[in-house]
Amino acid sequence: MEKYLKESSLIIENSIKNELSEINYPTVLKEGISYALLNGGKRLRPILLLMTLELFEINIELGLQYAVAIECIHNYSLVHDDLPALDNDTYRRGQLTVHKKFGEAEAILIGDALLTHAFHILAKEHRDISHNQMIKILQKVTEAAGINGMIGGQFIDVTSGDKKVDLSTLQYIHINKTGKMMKLPIEIGLILANAKQDDIDTMIKFAELLGISFQIKDDILDVEGNFKKLGKTIGKDKNQNKITYPALFGVNESKKILEDKISLAKELIIKKYGVKAEKFVSLCDYMMNRES
Ligand code: IPE
Ligand code: IPE
Ligand code: MG
Ligand code: MG
Ligand code: MG
Repeated sequence: MEKYLKESSLIIENSIKNELSEINYPTVLKEGISYALLNGGKRLRPILLLMTLELFEINIELGLQYAVAIECIHNYSLVHDDLPALDNDTYRRGQLTVHKKFGEAEAILIGDALLTHAFHILAKEHRDISHNQMIKILQKVTEAAGINGMIGGQFIDVTSGDKKVDLSTLQYIHINKTGKMMKLPIEIGLILANAKQDDIDTMIKFAELLGISFQIKDDILDVEGNFKKLGKTIGKDKNQNKITYPALFGVNESKKILEDKISLAKELIIKKYGVKAEKFVSLCDYMMNRES
């Protein structure tokens, strides 16, 4: 899996670099965008898109522009998430956060630029993609990144610091701030593959389990991760009274919940696709055991 993830990351990074080559000016904005985008992310969302296309035997080239657009939106969300007014973080991916490196106003604009540029990329014509598919994809992107998605989740996350932790708020935050952007690449893959309803049903359930598991693991790593491996300051969630799985259930119980969700996700996909699901199964294990 590690090898596959590395190889896929390289494909994504080359596509990102191609897209960036169109931007020339202002120089500092371009530098900031490159810093935010090319600073060692795991590229899990774009990789999920490529994996979905592979599962349905579709050429991955068809998904590259969407993979890059998703990564632009994901990175904008991180740049803004780290700002002093939100999580106030100093490190990401082992390096200074964008506002620490370039300044706060600059980081806000770098985030805005990444979000806007994502739509420039999404709107590019592709000879093998119909307008109908493009419109469906745009709808999914705006849902996942917007009010009923990442922004909605982030809003409740940043405004709930002093509130008592309850399960329904916790689930709302996790499903929206993280789950929806994790489900998005799979949804786009399904649209590009013109997948049948039973495939859509299975893959969406799988994606939802993976998305929530991903944030549970992120919360656990915030408690017991290692700064050198994780590249982010440890213990931030507790300091900021964030609504997290460890805050509600403790770390050990959170790990059990994570294991259950990952087992369910694996069962689901193996039952439907057998050996063809191999990569998704390995990805599940990787997600559960990751240290960065
Ligand atoms: C971090 O996402 C933010 C969350 C949604 C938990 P990732 O852990 O995927 O970040 P990178 O892109 O790999 O750094
Ligand atoms: C952020 O969740 C999710 C986003 C939408 C960016 P976190 O605030 O827990 O992510 P990290 O820990 O800073 O990466
Ligand atoms: Mg946050
Ligand atoms: Mg954060
Ligand atoms: Mg976190």
